[in-house]
Amino acid sequence: MSSGLGTIERGAARVDVSDKRMINARADVNQLLPLKYRWAWDKYLAACANHWMPSEVSMQADISLWRSPDGLTADERHMVKRNLGFFATSESLVANNIVLAVYRHLTNPECRQYLLRQAFEEAVHTHTFQYICESLGLDEGELFNAYREVPSITDKAAWALEHTRSLEDPDFRTGTPAADQAFLRDLVAFYVVFEGMWFYTGFAQILALGRRGKMPGIAEQYQYILRDESIHLNFGVDVINQIASENPGLWTDQFRGQVRDMLAEGCELEIAYGRDTLPRGMLGLSADSCEQYMRFIADRRCAQLGLAPLFGASENPFGWMSESMDLTKEKNFFETRVTEYQTGGTLVW
Ligand SMILES: [Fe+2]
Ligand SMILES: [Fe+2]
Repeated sequence: MSSGLGTIERGAARVDVSDKRMINARADVNQLLPLKYRWAWDKYLAACANHWMPSEVSMQADISLWRSPDGLTADERHMVKRNLGFFATSESLVANNIVLAVYRHLTNPECRQYLLRQAFEEAVHTHTFQYICESLGLDEGELFNAYREVPSITDKAAWALEHTRSLEDPDFRTGTPAADQAFLRDLVAFYVVFEGMWFYTGFAQILALGRRGKMPGIAEQYQYILRDESIHLNFGVDVINQIASENPGLWTDQFRGQVRDMLAEGCELEIAYGRDTLPRGMLGLSADSCEQYMRFIADRRCAQLGLAPLFGASENPFGWMSESMDLTKEKNFFETRVTEYQTGGTLVW
């Protein structure tokens, strides 16, 4: 496996596109062109076109509501704190997995180009939770240590970290079926379960608040995070499917069964988290509707990976989520922002 940091092969032949592979590539990983995986490059371009910063979103309305004794109900405050507590460190867990595990073993430069962009986006997302924490004057220890104090959050983080542990071993190398499958399991755990399932209950909870005009700044930031994350998820799905198609020996019936089991476990953990964050129904949400939503999402993820559905859950109880993902609002935001950058970005030499 080539990390890209080895000795230069002086005078070696130019890269042949047919030598490029997702894992265990022979082609030089330091040469972006010729491109092989257009989908990875397109996602890099789409991600760059969606650039945003949390500090561009006003928190004034959120601050007033949070400070006002009747701004939010006790249940709403509980949910917001749990939600922020989950995301605050999840963004770092995902970033660390990309940088310290995935990047090393994905031997394709266009995919690495996207990973570099994704890593920056995860930094922007962590920044968002720092910005929210500071704006609302939240207890930073309570927020950032939640993943070690709140069992429903700890259980999810521990489950994901279990799958990245083998890759963390400095002697870990892809190139054997067992190691390549360990790498695939890590990709499934982080891209499909963590970013593709667990983030979605959190998005639904905050966007449900935002729909009622509560915490509009946080809700707007979550919409931008949601848009980034939907590209992260789709990139992960494309990576997994591409590795599977290039290495059919890895994607066996038995391994597909393991992946389905992982999605089922992820679903159970998320249902427990939903019960913990929503002990009583509110904002048109309940622990039961979150459970139904997670089953719907899990089946969608199965379909994206070409796997049989786990639940046969065809009904999305949060149909309004697709409306919240509507890009019109963001489009206005980005148009405004670009203008502001052009005005304010004049450099004095
Ligand atoms: Fe993120
Ligand atoms: Fe992400």
